[in-house]
Amino acid sequence: MKHNIILTGFMGCGKSSIGIRLSYHLKRTLIDTDKWIERKQGMSVSEIFERSGEEAFRQMETQCLKELLDGTDNQIISVGGGLPVREENRQLLKQLGQVIYLKASPEVIYERLKEDTTRPLLQVEDPLERIRTLMSARQEAYAACADVVINVSDKSFDEIIVQICRCEKEEEI
Ligand code: S3P
Repeated sequence: MKHNIILTGFMGCGKSSIGIRLSYHLKRTLIDTDKWIERKQGMSVSEIFERSGEEAFRQMETQCLKELLDGTDNQIISVGGGLPVREENRQLLKQLGQVIYLKASPEVIYERLKEDTTRPLLQVEDPLERIRTLMSARQEAYAACADVVINVSDKSFDEIIVQICRCEKEEEI
């Protein structure tokens, strides 16, 4: 098993913002699977969904994890919100390191993403309802591969960072 820190959780739970802060704090590189895919494809996630469909994007996510497993260690990896849904991806995540599930309520997610246009799955008439449905469908998958669950709805970034660093230390002992 590798020693990356992997951040998972629903869209808008704060993976990227927390990942950046954690990267600075621990002096480790941050890899974002969405950005990795966008760079490789030369297209945004929305364009990939539009041109090739969701299934093709899911395949790219699996490929991304396989390549990271080949060459990445001791880094921070923030993964797309739907990535842990595939069983194969959950196994790959576990091999990549310690998986931290950042858990937020549908209402908090909605407040953060209501003006967002970059998440194709939330461009619907009733995004809050979509968030609730998707989240409850994914709940088990997030929990199944998590080593640590952090409830982020009521915590500041600093509190979350402290909690992640504490888990990281315990892991080393
Ligand atoms: C998705 C989450 C997005 C991105 C894509 C699909 C999902 O990533 O991978 O829009 O299925 O939940 P973030 O969780 O970083 O927003």
